[in-house]
Amino acid sequence: MLGFSLLALLPLVASTALSPRSTACNNSPDLCSKSYGEITYLGAHDSPFVRDASTSDSTAANQYMDTPSQLDAGVRMVTGQVHKKGSEWHLCHSDCRLLDAGKLSSWLSEIKKWLDSNKNDVVTLLLVNSDDATASELDAEFKAAYIVDYAYKPKTQTAPSSWPTLQELINAGTRLMTFVASVDSSAQAPYLMDEWNYIFENPYDVTSPSNFSCTVDRPSKVKGNPSSAVAANMLPLMNHFLYSTSFFDIQYPNDSYISTTNAPSGGLGNLGDAATECKNAYGRQPAFILVDFFNKGPAIETVDNLNGVKNPVGRSDTSSSQTSSASTYSNVFKGLVELVDKAKSGADPSMGEWVWAGGEWGGLLGGGITL
Ligand SMILES: *[C@@H]1O[C@H](CO)[C@@H](O)[C@H](O)[C@H]1NC(C)=O
Ligand SMILES: *[C@@H]1O[C@H](CO)[C@@H](O)[C@H](O)[C@H]1NC(C)=O
Repeated sequence: MLGFSLLALLPLVASTALSPRSTACNNSPDLCSKSYGEITYLGAHDSPFVRDASTSDSTAANQYMDTPSQLDAGVRMVTGQVHKKGSEWHLCHSDCRLLDAGKLSSWLSEIKKWLDSNKNDVVTLLLVNSDDATASELDAEFKAAYIVDYAYKPKTQTAPSSWPTLQELINAGTRLMTFVASVDSSAQAPYLMDEWNYIFENPYDVTSPSNFSCTVDRPSKVKGNPSSAVAANMLPLMNHFLYSTSFFDIQYPNDSYISTTNAPSGGLGNLGDAATECKNAYGRQPAFILVDFFNKGPAIETVDNLNGVKNPVGRSDTSSSQTSSASTYSNVFKGLVELVDKAKSGADPSMGEWVWAGGEWGGLLGGGITL
Protein backbone atom coordinates (compact mmCIF):
# COMPACT_ATOMS: atom_id res chain seq x y z
CA MET A 1 0.00 0.00 0.00
CA LEU A 2 2.72 2.40 1.04
CA GLY A 3 4.83 1.54 -2.01
CA PHE A 4 1.88 2.16 -4.26
CA SER A 5 1.19 5.66 -2.90
CA LEU A 6 4.84 6.67 -3.21
CA LEU A 7 4.94 5.54 -6.81
CA ALA A 8 1.77 7.45 -7.54
CA LEU A 9 3.45 10.62 -6.28
CA LEU A 10 6.57 10.28 -8.42
CA PRO A 11 5.30 11.95 -11.59
CA LEU A 12 4.26 14.99 -9.55
CA VAL A 13 7.68 15.30 -7.93
CA ALA A 14 9.36 15.03 -11.32
CA SER A 15 7.27 17.73 -12.96
CA THR A 16 7.83 20.10 -10.04
CA ALA A 17 11.58 19.66 -10.43
CA LEU A 18 11.42 20.37 -14.14
CA SER A 19 9.50 23.65 -13.83
CA PRO A 20 10.40 25.46 -10.62
CA ARG A 21 7.43 27.41 -9.33
CA SER A 22 7.93 31.14 -9.50
CA THR A 23 7.22 33.08 -6.36
CA ALA A 24 4.22 35.34 -6.27
CA CYS A 25 4.40 38.98 -5.23
CA ASN A 26 1.06 40.30 -3.95
CA ASN A 27 -0.64 37.05 -5.00
CA SER A 28 0.78 36.85 -8.53
CA PRO A 29 4.19 36.08 -10.09
CA ASP A 30 3.22 38.51 -12.87
CA LEU A 31 3.34 41.48 -10.50
CA CYS A 32 6.91 41.05 -9.16
CA SER A 33 8.63 42.95 -11.94
CA LYS A 34 6.02 45.70 -12.14
CA SER A 35 6.62 49.13 -10.69
CA TYR A 36 4.72 49.83 -7.47
CA GLY A 37 3.00 52.78 -9.16
CA GLU A 38 1.60 50.94 -12.18
CA ILE A 39 -0.36 48.29 -10.25
CA THR A 40 -3.95 48.59 -8.95
CA TYR A 41 -4.39 47.73 -5.26
CA LEU A 42 -7.64 46.88 -3.57
CA GLY A 43 -8.17 49.15 -0.59
CA ALA A 44 -10.43 48.52 2.38
CA HIS A 45 -12.03 51.84 3.29
CA ASP A 46 -11.87 52.34 7.08
CA SER A 47 -10.25 48.94 7.57
CA PRO A 48 -10.38 48.84 11.40
CA PHE A 49 -14.09 49.64 11.57
CA VAL A 50 -15.59 46.18 11.49
CA ARG A 51 -19.24 45.28 11.70
CA ASP A 52 -19.12 42.25 13.97
CA ALA A 53 -19.68 41.24 17.57
CA SER A 54 -16.80 43.47 18.72
CA THR A 55 -18.80 46.57 17.75
CA SER A 56 -22.30 45.14 18.40
CA ASP A 57 -22.65 45.02 14.60
CA SER A 58 -22.28 48.78 14.38
CA THR A 59 -23.90 50.34 11.34
CA ALA A 60 -21.08 52.89 11.44
CA ALA A 61 -18.65 50.11 10.44
CA ASN A 62 -17.37 49.75 6.88
CA GLN A 63 -16.09 46.18 6.69
CA TYR A 64 -17.27 42.72 7.74
CA MET A 65 -13.78 41.33 8.33
CA ASP A 66 -10.84 42.56 10.38
CA THR A 67 -7.59 43.89 8.94
CA PRO A 68 -5.55 40.63 8.95
CA SER A 69 -8.47 38.86 7.24
CA GLN A 70 -8.69 41.68 4.68
CA LEU A 71 -4.99 41.21 3.89
CA ASP A 72 -5.36 37.42 3.71
CA ALA A 73 -8.09 37.91 1.13
CA GLY A 74 -6.00 40.15 -1.16
CA VAL A 75 -6.60 43.68 0.14
CA ARG A 76 -3.30 45.57 -0.21
CA MET A 77 -4.28 49.03 0.97
CA VAL A 78 -5.59 49.51 4.48
CA THR A 79 -6.93 52.84 5.65
CA GLY A 80 -8.06 54.36 8.91
CA GLN A 81 -8.82 57.62 10.69
CA VAL A 82 -6.48 58.64 13.47
CA HIS A 83 -8.02 60.59 16.36
CA LYS A 84 -6.68 61.87 19.63
CA LYS A 85 -8.28 60.23 22.64
CA GLY A 86 -7.01 61.69 25.86
CA SER A 87 -3.24 61.32 25.56
CA GLU A 88 -3.49 58.42 23.10
CA TRP A 89 -3.86 58.07 19.34
CA HIS A 90 -6.78 55.86 18.41
CA LEU A 91 -8.53 54.70 15.27
CA CYS A 92 -12.02 56.12 15.56
CA HIS A 93 -14.83 56.60 13.11
CA SER A 94 -15.56 60.34 13.03
CA ASP A 95 -15.48 60.48 16.82
CA CYS A 96 -14.23 58.03 19.43
CA ARG A 97 -17.68 58.01 21.03
CA LEU A 98 -19.21 56.66 17.84
CA LEU A 99 -16.75 53.85 17.11
CA ASP A 100 -13.35 53.35 18.77
CA ALA A 101 -11.26 50.57 17.21
CA GLY A 102 -8.43 50.96 19.71
CA LYS A 103 -4.90 52.29 19.64
CA LEU A 104 -3.13 53.06 16.37
CA SER A 105 -0.04 51.22 17.63
CA SER A 106 -2.07 48.04 18.27
CA TRP A 107 -3.44 48.09 14.75
CA LEU A 108 0.05 48.69 13.33
CA SER A 109 1.25 45.68 15.34
CA GLU A 110 -1.37 43.51 13.65
CA ILE A 111 -0.15 44.71 10.26
CA LYS A 112 3.47 44.03 11.23
CA LYS A 113 2.56 40.53 12.32
CA TRP A 114 0.86 39.95 8.99
CA LEU A 115 3.90 41.26 7.06
CA ASP A 116 6.11 38.90 9.07
CA SER A 117 4.14 35.89 7.94
CA ASN A 118 3.73 37.14 4.34
CA LYS A 119 7.21 38.05 3.19
CA ASN A 120 6.43 38.54 -0.51
CA ASP A 121 3.77 41.17 -0.06
CA VAL A 122 3.80 44.93 -0.23
CA VAL A 123 1.07 46.71 1.73
CA THR A 124 0.02 50.35 1.49
CA LEU A 125 -1.20 52.19 4.55
CA LEU A 126 -3.26 55.37 4.31
CA LEU A 127 -3.94 57.28 7.50
CA VAL A 128 -6.41 60.13 7.72
CA ASN A 129 -4.85 62.46 10.24
CA SER A 130 -8.09 63.77 11.74
CA ASP A 131 -6.60 65.52 14.78
CA ASP A 132 -3.37 66.71 13.16
CA ALA A 133 -0.91 64.38 14.82
CA THR A 134 2.66 65.54 14.15
CA ALA A 135 5.13 63.31 12.33
CA SER A 136 6.91 62.57 15.59
CA GLU A 137 3.66 61.64 17.35
CA LEU A 138 2.83 59.21 14.55
CA ASP A 139 6.42 57.96 14.50
CA ALA A 140 6.09 57.02 18.18
CA GLU A 141 3.14 54.78 17.30
CA PHE A 142 5.07 53.12 14.47
CA LYS A 143 8.03 52.59 16.80
CA ALA A 144 5.79 51.06 19.47
CA ALA A 145 4.61 48.58 16.84
CA TYR A 146 8.21 47.81 15.71
CA ILE A 147 7.17 48.49 12.12
CA VAL A 148 9.42 51.45 11.22
CA ASP A 149 12.06 49.22 9.59
CA TYR A 150 9.44 47.88 7.17
CA ALA A 151 8.50 51.32 5.91
CA TYR A 152 9.68 52.53 2.52
CA LYS A 153 11.41 55.90 2.52
CA PRO A 154 10.65 57.98 -0.59
CA LYS A 155 13.56 59.43 -2.57
CA THR A 156 11.67 62.66 -3.19
CA GLN A 157 8.96 64.72 -1.52
CA THR A 158 6.93 64.69 -4.72
CA ALA A 159 5.55 61.82 -6.79
CA PRO A 160 8.44 60.12 -8.63
CA SER A 161 8.26 59.30 -12.33
CA SER A 162 8.93 55.70 -11.43
CA TRP A 163 8.65 53.68 -8.26
CA PRO A 164 10.64 50.57 -7.35
CA THR A 165 9.19 47.26 -8.50
CA LEU A 166 7.43 45.03 -5.98
CA GLN A 167 10.43 42.68 -6.12
CA GLU A 168 12.81 45.54 -5.31
CA LEU A 169 10.68 46.58 -2.35
CA ILE A 170 10.53 42.97 -1.16
CA ASN A 171 14.30 42.51 -1.54
CA ALA A 172 14.95 45.70 0.41
CA GLY A 173 12.58 44.64 3.15
CA THR A 174 10.63 47.88 2.74
CA ARG A 175 7.19 46.44 2.17
CA LEU A 176 5.08 49.10 3.84
CA MET A 177 4.17 52.22 1.87
CA THR A 178 2.81 54.82 4.26
CA PHE A 179 0.70 57.80 3.23
CA VAL A 180 -0.82 60.31 5.63
CA ALA A 181 -3.48 62.94 4.89
CA SER A 182 -1.88 65.16 5.84
CA VAL A 183 1.48 65.42 7.56
CA ASP A 184 4.45 67.75 7.36
CA SER A 185 7.59 66.08 6.12
CA SER A 186 9.98 65.23 8.88
CA ALA A 187 13.61 64.16 8.90
CA GLN A 188 12.79 62.04 11.92
CA ALA A 189 10.12 60.04 10.08
CA PRO A 190 10.93 60.31 6.35
CA TYR A 191 8.77 57.26 5.60
CA LEU A 192 5.57 59.23 6.34
CA MET A 193 4.57 60.43 2.89
CA ASP A 194 2.12 63.30 2.71
CA GLU A 195 -0.74 61.86 0.67
CA TRP A 196 -1.38 65.05 -1.29
CA ASN A 197 2.14 65.09 -2.72
CA TYR A 198 1.75 61.62 -4.23
CA ILE A 199 -1.93 60.78 -4.70
CA PHE A 200 -5.09 62.36 -6.11
CA GLU A 201 -8.67 61.29 -5.41
CA ASN A 202 -12.10 61.45 -6.98
CA PRO A 203 -15.06 62.59 -4.80
CA TYR A 204 -15.87 60.31 -1.87
CA ASP A 205 -19.13 61.71 -0.57
CA VAL A 206 -21.51 59.82 -2.83
CA THR A 207 -25.07 58.93 -1.84
CA SER A 208 -26.51 57.86 -5.20
CA PRO A 209 -25.14 55.10 -7.46
CA SER A 210 -25.58 57.43 -10.43
CA ASN A 211 -23.19 59.94 -8.86
CA PHE A 212 -19.88 58.07 -8.88
CA SER A 213 -17.44 60.23 -10.78
CA CYS A 214 -13.85 60.24 -11.99
CA THR A 215 -13.34 63.98 -11.62
CA VAL A 216 -10.41 65.02 -9.49
CA ASP A 217 -11.61 66.32 -6.14
CA ARG A 218 -8.46 66.44 -4.00
CA PRO A 219 -5.86 67.83 -3.57
CA SER A 220 -6.99 71.34 -4.53
CA LYS A 221 -3.87 72.02 -6.63
CA VAL A 222 -5.12 69.52 -9.25
CA LYS A 223 -8.86 69.72 -8.63
CA GLY A 224 -10.82 69.17 -11.85
CA ASN A 225 -7.63 68.53 -13.77
CA PRO A 226 -6.80 64.82 -14.16
CA SER A 227 -4.24 65.41 -16.90
CA SER A 228 -2.12 67.70 -14.77
CA ALA A 229 -2.38 65.26 -11.84
CA VAL A 230 -1.25 62.35 -14.00
CA ALA A 231 1.44 64.48 -15.66
CA ALA A 232 2.78 65.21 -12.16
CA ASN A 233 3.04 61.41 -11.66
CA MET A 234 0.44 61.45 -8.92
CA LEU A 235 -1.23 58.09 -8.33
CA PRO A 236 -5.03 57.93 -8.82
CA LEU A 237 -7.05 56.77 -5.83
CA MET A 238 -10.59 55.85 -6.77
CA ASN A 239 -13.11 56.11 -3.94
CA HIS A 240 -15.99 53.78 -4.69
CA PHE A 241 -18.35 53.48 -1.79
CA LEU A 242 -21.91 54.57 -1.24
CA TYR A 243 -23.42 56.28 1.77
CA SER A 244 -26.94 56.20 3.09
CA THR A 245 -28.25 59.24 4.89
CA SER A 246 -30.24 58.81 8.07
CA PHE A 247 -31.96 61.21 10.37
CA PHE A 248 -29.77 64.06 11.68
CA ASP A 249 -28.12 63.98 8.21
CA ILE A 250 -25.65 61.42 9.44
CA GLN A 251 -24.18 59.30 6.69
CA TYR A 252 -23.35 55.65 7.09
CA PRO A 253 -22.25 52.94 4.64
CA ASN A 254 -24.98 51.62 2.36
CA ASP A 255 -24.67 47.84 2.53
CA SER A 256 -28.03 46.93 1.01
CA TYR A 257 -26.72 47.86 -2.45
CA ILE A 258 -23.17 46.57 -1.89
CA SER A 259 -23.30 43.58 -4.21
CA THR A 260 -23.87 45.99 -7.11
CA THR A 261 -21.55 48.76 -5.87
CA ASN A 262 -18.62 46.31 -5.70
CA ALA A 263 -19.55 44.16 -8.71
CA PRO A 264 -17.17 43.68 -11.66
CA SER A 265 -20.08 44.45 -14.04
CA GLY A 266 -23.84 44.89 -14.19
CA GLY A 267 -26.08 47.38 -12.45
CA LEU A 268 -25.93 51.15 -12.00
CA GLY A 269 -22.74 52.24 -10.24
CA ASN A 270 -20.90 48.91 -10.45
CA LEU A 271 -17.18 48.98 -9.71
CA GLY A 272 -16.02 47.39 -12.96
CA ASP A 273 -17.65 50.02 -15.17
CA ALA A 274 -16.55 52.84 -12.88
CA ALA A 275 -12.94 51.62 -12.96
CA THR A 276 -12.97 51.46 -16.75
CA GLU A 277 -14.38 54.99 -16.88
CA CYS A 278 -11.67 56.29 -14.52
CA LYS A 279 -8.95 54.43 -16.41
CA ASN A 280 -10.10 56.18 -19.59
CA ALA A 281 -10.36 59.55 -17.85
CA TYR A 282 -6.84 59.28 -16.38
CA GLY A 283 -5.15 57.49 -19.26
CA ARG A 284 -3.89 54.89 -16.81
CA GLN A 285 -5.40 52.37 -14.43
CA PRO A 286 -6.24 53.60 -10.93
CA ALA A 287 -3.50 52.77 -8.42
CA PHE A 288 -5.90 52.32 -5.53
CA ILE A 289 -9.56 51.39 -5.40
CA LEU A 290 -11.12 52.01 -2.02
CA VAL A 291 -14.32 50.15 -1.15
CA ASP A 292 -16.57 49.31 1.79
CA PHE A 293 -17.31 45.63 2.60
CA PHE A 294 -14.51 44.63 0.21
CA ASN A 295 -15.42 40.94 0.12
CA LYS A 296 -18.73 41.72 -1.60
CA GLY A 297 -18.86 42.02 -5.38
CA PRO A 298 -16.28 40.60 -5.13
CA ALA A 299 -14.33 43.83 -5.50
CA ILE A 300 -11.03 42.00 -6.04
CA GLU A 301 -12.26 40.76 -9.41
CA THR A 302 -12.15 44.28 -10.85
CA VAL A 303 -8.64 44.75 -9.45
CA ASP A 304 -7.44 41.45 -10.98
CA ASN A 305 -8.96 42.46 -14.31
CA LEU A 306 -7.09 45.78 -14.28
CA ASN A 307 -3.83 44.06 -13.34
CA GLY A 308 -4.30 41.26 -15.88
CA VAL A 309 -3.98 38.72 -13.06
CA LYS A 310 -5.56 35.44 -14.12
CA ASN A 311 -4.63 32.90 -11.48
CA PRO A 312 -4.03 34.61 -8.14
CA VAL A 313 -2.36 32.45 -5.50
CA GLY A 314 -2.28 32.47 -1.71
CA ARG A 315 -5.55 34.25 -1.03
CA SER A 316 -8.14 33.16 1.47
CA ASP A 317 -11.63 32.54 0.18
CA THR A 318 -14.12 35.02 1.56
CA SER A 319 -17.21 33.75 -0.18
CA SER A 320 -18.61 32.19 2.99
CA SER A 321 -17.65 35.09 5.25
CA GLN A 322 -20.02 36.75 7.63
CA THR A 323 -22.19 39.51 6.27
CA SER A 324 -24.04 40.55 9.34
CA SER A 325 -26.47 43.30 8.64
CA ALA A 326 -27.32 45.65 11.43
CA SER A 327 -31.04 45.97 11.51
CA THR A 328 -31.64 49.01 13.64
CA TYR A 329 -30.26 52.47 13.94
CA SER A 330 -29.84 51.96 17.63
CA ASN A 331 -26.57 50.03 17.20
CA VAL A 332 -24.88 52.77 15.29
CA PHE A 333 -26.45 55.67 16.85
CA LYS A 334 -26.38 54.34 20.36
CA GLY A 335 -24.12 57.19 21.37
CA LEU A 336 -26.34 59.67 19.61
CA VAL A 337 -29.49 58.43 21.28
CA GLU A 338 -27.79 58.74 24.66
CA LEU A 339 -26.80 62.26 23.73
CA VAL A 340 -30.35 63.20 22.84
CA ASP A 341 -31.57 61.75 26.13
CA LYS A 342 -28.95 63.75 27.96
CA ALA A 343 -30.05 66.93 26.24
CA LYS A 344 -33.71 66.21 26.92
CA SER A 345 -32.97 65.77 30.60
CA GLY A 346 -31.44 69.23 30.67
CA ALA A 347 -27.71 68.49 30.38
CA ASP A 348 -25.69 70.60 27.95
CA PRO A 349 -23.87 68.47 25.36
CA SER A 350 -20.38 69.65 24.48
CA MET A 351 -19.51 71.27 21.19
CA GLY A 352 -17.66 68.09 20.15
CA GLU A 353 -20.79 66.05 20.70
CA TRP A 354 -22.80 68.54 18.69
CA VAL A 355 -20.37 68.49 15.79
CA TRP A 356 -20.27 64.74 15.35
CA ALA A 357 -24.02 64.54 15.63
CA GLY A 358 -24.20 66.68 12.52
CA GLY A 359 -25.47 69.80 14.21
CA GLU A 360 -28.95 69.14 12.90
CA TRP A 361 -30.83 67.61 15.75
CA GLY A 362 -31.53 70.62 17.92
CA GLY A 363 -34.74 71.24 15.98
CA LEU A 364 -35.95 67.78 16.80
CA LEU A 365 -35.78 68.62 20.45
CA GLY A 366 -37.94 71.64 19.96
CA GLY A 367 -34.99 73.96 19.61
CA GLY A 368 -34.19 73.23 23.24
CA ILE A 369 -30.45 73.21 22.74
CA THR A 370 -28.34 76.30 22.50
CA LEU A 371 -24.62 75.91 22.01
C1 LIG B 1 -26.06 63.70 -7.80
O1 LIG B 1 -25.38 64.67 -8.58
C2 LIG B 1 -26.21 65.71 -9.05
C3 LIG B 1 -25.40 66.56 -10.00
O2 LIG B 1 -24.20 66.94 -9.42
C4 LIG B 1 -26.75 66.50 -7.86
O3 LIG B 1 -27.59 67.52 -8.29
C5 LIG B 1 -27.53 65.55 -6.97
O4 LIG B 1 -27.93 66.22 -5.81
C6 LIG B 1 -26.69 64.35 -6.59
N1 LIG B 1 -27.53 63.39 -5.93
C7 LIG B 1 -27.23 62.93 -4.72
C8 LIG B 1 -28.20 61.97 -4.13
O5 LIG B 1 -26.23 63.27 -4.11
C1 LIG C 1 -28.73 51.99 -0.82
O1 LIG C 1 -28.67 52.40 -2.15
C2 LIG C 1 -29.68 51.88 -2.99
C3 LIG C 1 -29.39 52.34 -4.40
O2 LIG C 1 -29.46 53.73 -4.47
C4 LIG C 1 -31.03 52.34 -2.49
O3 LIG C 1 -32.05 51.77 -3.29
C5 LIG C 1 -31.21 51.91 -1.05
O4 LIG C 1 -32.41 52.43 -0.54
C6 LIG C 1 -30.05 52.41 -0.20
N1 LIG C 1 -30.16 51.86 1.13
C7 LIG C 1 -30.32 52.64 2.20
C8 LIG C 1 -30.44 51.94 3.50
O5 LIG C 1 -30.32 53.86 2.12
